[in-house]
Amino acid sequence: MVQNNNSNDQIVINIKGLKKSFGDNNVLKDFNLELHKGDNLVVLGKSGSGKSVLIKCIIGLMKQDAGSINVFGKEIMDLSQEELDEMRVKIGFLFQSNALYDSMTIKENLEFPLRRHLQRENMDKVDDLIIEALDSVGLKDTINMMPAELSGGMRKRIALARTLILKPEIILYDEPTTGLDPITGKEISNLMLEIQKKYNTSSIIISHDMNCVKITSNKVIMLIDGTCYAMGTYEELSNSKDLKIQQFFN
Ligand SMILES: Nc1ncnc2c1ncn2[C@@H]1O[C@H](COP(=O)(O)OP(=O)(O)OP(=O)(O)O)[C@@H](O)[C@H]1O
Ligand SMILES: [Mg+2]
Repeated sequence: MVQNNNSNDQIVINIKGLKKSFGDNNVLKDFNLELHKGDNLVVLGKSGSGKSVLIKCIIGLMKQDAGSINVFGKEIMDLSQEELDEMRVKIGFLFQSNALYDSMTIKENLEFPLRRHLQRENMDKVDDLIIEALDSVGLKDTINMMPAELSGGMRKRIALARTLILKPEIILYDEPTTGLDPITGKEISNLMLEIQKKYNTSSIIISHDMNCVKITSNKVIMLIDGTCYAMGTYEELSNSKDLKIQQFFN
């Protein structure tokens, strides 16, 4: 359990009164969240409670019905497509499915985001950036391999390396350890923590895996009935007498 008492109180994501419905399915009703710089904030919530919808609203893939999502001081709703693309370079996103390209080598997979986002004058740094990213997930030797030659845990690490390669300030993780065995899940969780310390990133982590929550989080919020029902450290919430909270820890 990490007690990360942040000295840095800068708020990087500030969500107020967020509402999102699909027809009469009111998924997010009045949702508030503050992500401070250096936080590893876990969002816990039942399947279908709106965790992925929340993340999609943050990166502008979905538009909210009401409320404010402010990232680095900018309202996501007000950004033009160009400004949104710029913002997305600062926000890394780790898909549950990893989303690696099977027909490309690991090197080509990592090159992909760089070719899209790096300025032409920096293209000679590509190889160094790829090696640095692979090194930070402990997989330098896989550079010329294909995704199919790697284990599930290794593929997750490569997906993480691809997220890291643009040096995002914020990383959003959607179920980073789902589908991995408990030992590999713990390794990935420890790696997430290492990355947060090394690069001072701020993260929102969606997870059902209580090992992952325990290892990575310095704050946990519970998304219940479309609102932030409770917030605390893993320890505080796991000791709660509230039945709605307890059910996640049993
Ligand atoms: N594009 C969409 N159109 C209609 N309804 C949607 C859409 N996306 C999500 N929903 C609904 O919003 C609710 C929340 O979905 P969401 O994917 O955010 O759940 P979740 O908390 O991520 O669940 P899980 O843990 O299973 O991934 C669900 O009831 C879902 O059916
Ligand atoms: Mg989801």
